Amino acid sequence: MNAVQLLKSPLQTPAPIEKTAKPLPGRVRLMAFVLDGQSEAALNTCISNLSVSSVTIRRGGIDKAIKYLGVERSPETVIVDISGSEMPASQVHQLAELCEPGVTVVAIGDRNDIGLYRDLKQAGVSEYIVKPVTALLLAKALSSTYNTAEGSPISRKLGKLVAAVGARGGVGTTTLAINLAWYLANRQNRRVLLLDLDLQTGDCALALNLKPTPGLREALTNPVRIDNVFLERTVAIHGERLFVLSAEEPLHADAEFTAEAVETLVGVLRTQFHYVIADVPRIPGAAFRRVLDIADNRVIVADQTLRSVRDTVRLRDAFGESGEARRHLLVVNRSGEGGRLAMTLDEMAKVQLRPEFVIPFQPKRFTTPGLAHNTAFTEAVAALAAEISGRMLQKNRWWRFGK
Ligand SMILES: Nc1ncnc2c1ncn2[C@@H]1O[C@H](COP(=O)(O)OP(=O)(O)OP(=O)(O)O)[C@@H](O)[C@H]1O
Ligand SMILES: [Mg+2]
Repeated sequence: MNAVQLLKSPLQTPAPIEKTAKPLPGRVRLMAFVLDGQSEAALNTCISNLSVSSVTIRRGGIDKAIKYLGVERSPETVIVDISGSEMPASQVHQLAELCEPGVTVVAIGDRNDIGLYRDLKQAGVSEYIVKPVTALLLAKALSSTYNTAEGSPISRKLGKLVAAVGARGGVGTTTLAINLAWYLANRQNRRVLLLDLDLQTGDCALALNLKPTPGLREALTNPVRIDNVFLERTVAIHGERLFVLSAEEPLHADAEFTAEAVETLVGVLRTQFHYVIADVPRIPGAAFRRVLDIADNRVIVADQTLRSVRDTVRLRDAFGESGEARRHLLVVNRSGEGGRLAMTLDEMAKVQLRPEFVIPFQPKRFTTPGLAHNTAFTEAVAALAAEISGRMLQKNRWWRFGK
């Protein structure tokens, strides 16, 4: 189906928009990466004693677990053999970084060392079992992981919220949000949810050639219904790892929702995805302000018009200081569009606006706010993703400013 066909369909068809979402691919309950036969046998006995279903056991240690979790869905619990690892705690950190929210990690290994035990606990494992591993020890470790209400540090980890907001309309906020979400999902193999908060005229689904998800409005007006079952029914899926929540509510009715509702929604999404990328309308409203308030990263998109610069300053002042917990990243898009009439970067610097990224105006490359291909835009998106994820790019590029 092409974009034009899609444009016609929801508005012209009186029947309800059919559901587009396939069910979310499920998670394995338990996965183990073990290096020796004895541990594997103990694990098999433990699993049949506890009658845990949906279990996968692989031969290999933490290296293999890291490789696996870098591309595949995380199981609910991972048992990982750290024997022979030279830097087990740092590898556990690496593993934790890759895990989806809510994963419990149990380590097994051959070193009986209290220092190591402490380091592993600090890195977030819920238990460390010294070999020889027995079915009983494993059963204890697994039952304590399922029974502790607060969980281990790794399992308490939540997905990051990135809120993209434009200083003005039409500066490319939606294009940036879509491309950032796509990049994190397809180039960094993260599970990403793109949340289009413009329930009436949002473009995210259209740009990705997906049908909007009618349940979003319903959930935001009735937030007690927001749970994993709702998500499974409502999200639209693009490829394997990019999920989209958007709506196309009628223009003649209000589509308002409360700050509490959207916070509840984001709270649930953070337990399911590595990243939630919200395309936030720039119109003032308590719900939109709340999303910007609770975001880990706020990406302000602006162009170099006087109006845009003025509103960027106002947005920045409204956000307060950028810090480790809540970072602001300024992207100047469509640079060069205004020619000599545009404000220069030097002039912007005089009002303390120093964009982290500047993307040139490339009218021939864009017709709609969809996925960009091989342009300065994609390069900037890659760098922005690196900044947000902490996975640094190798090269310094020309459009990089600040820092
Ligand atoms: N660097 C660029 N060069 C040329 N065109 C661009 C660039 N970035 C985005 N565009 C185009 O600008 C238009 C507006 O983009 P987009 O819809 O992402 O902006 P927006 O800020 O989300 O707008 P709105 O205020 O309507 O939500 C789109 O057609 C998009 O393809
Ligand atoms: Mg937009």
